[in-house]
Amino acid sequence: MPRGEPRPPSSDPFEHSHLAARELARRTGSDHHDVVVVLGSGLSGAARLLGADGPTLDLSTLPGFPRFTGLGHRAAAWSLPIGPRRVLVTAGRAHLYEGVTEHQSAHALRTAIAGGCHTVVLTCAAGAIRPDLALGSIVAISDHLNLTGRSPLTGVHPGERAGTPFVDLVDAWSPRLRALAGAAAARPGAGGRPEGQAPLPEGVYAQLPGPHFETPAEIRMLRTLGADLVGMSAATEAIAARHLGAEVLGLAVVTNAAAGVGPGHVSSDQIVDVAAESAPTLAALVRALLESLGD
Ligand code: HPA
Repeated sequence: MPRGEPRPPSSDPFEHSHLAARELARRTGSDHHDVVVVLGSGLSGAARLLGADGPTLDLSTLPGFPRFTGLGHRAAAWSLPIGPRRVLVTAGRAHLYEGVTEHQSAHALRTAIAGGCHTVVLTCAAGAIRPDLALGSIVAISDHLNLTGRSPLTGVHPGERAGTPFVDLVDAWSPRLRALAGAAAARPGAGGRPEGQAPLPEGVYAQLPGPHFETPAEIRMLRTLGADLVGMSAATEAIAARHLGAEVLGLAVVTNAAAGVGPGHVSSDQIVDVAAESAPTLAALVRALLESLGD
């Protein structure tokens, strides 16, 4: 390259996330966050209940961020003290179905982890395949089926700065955080739950690419494969987070019976409405969990 010419922008997604993390630290005035809480479709109201009353940070103005166009999503973030932790709460994610690349979809999470968040709480709306999972209840994700045919680690080569792409996914959904979340959910004040349901039921989450919903035949197939919940986001994000060594908890809000499980149809309006109604329960659980993490 001739001297004096600007360097072309790097194509390394991990370099972008480090750049974005530096900018995030500058704009929030916190050079380190410990935990990131990603709020899923319709759940952004939980941010206020977690203490967000100040100005929001517009994530789409940070380096490398795509536009967030998903339903019930906006590219907002807040830096909040919760218990002994400095927590980055983000509302909105870039789903693969929006036409973004795997790396763009993982960028917000990679930025948070580059900024110090070694604990990742992924929240999402999900359809219930298991009929005992009540509408509005919160389910801890115990394992997943990534049926998108895509990986956030595509094109990551062994030996590069980002580490090996051959990531072990046994216990990808942290048993330790699930136990802490279960204990937090059982404490009085951690939010209401449907009668007769365990404080925090667990389930296997199947991620499909979307954006269309599934057919009843596809849901029967997913049930046969061992899935309890269906959604369009959390599994690929968990893979990206595990690749960077973060500990991951997944909290799925049951917003609807999956196609053919109940008599009705699947509606995006219902999903966002039920998620919004569940935001206080989710916020109470997340707060109780974060307060229990200790110093
Ligand atoms: N299918 C896929 N994604 C979803 C659903 C569903 O039924 N509910 C919420 N997200």
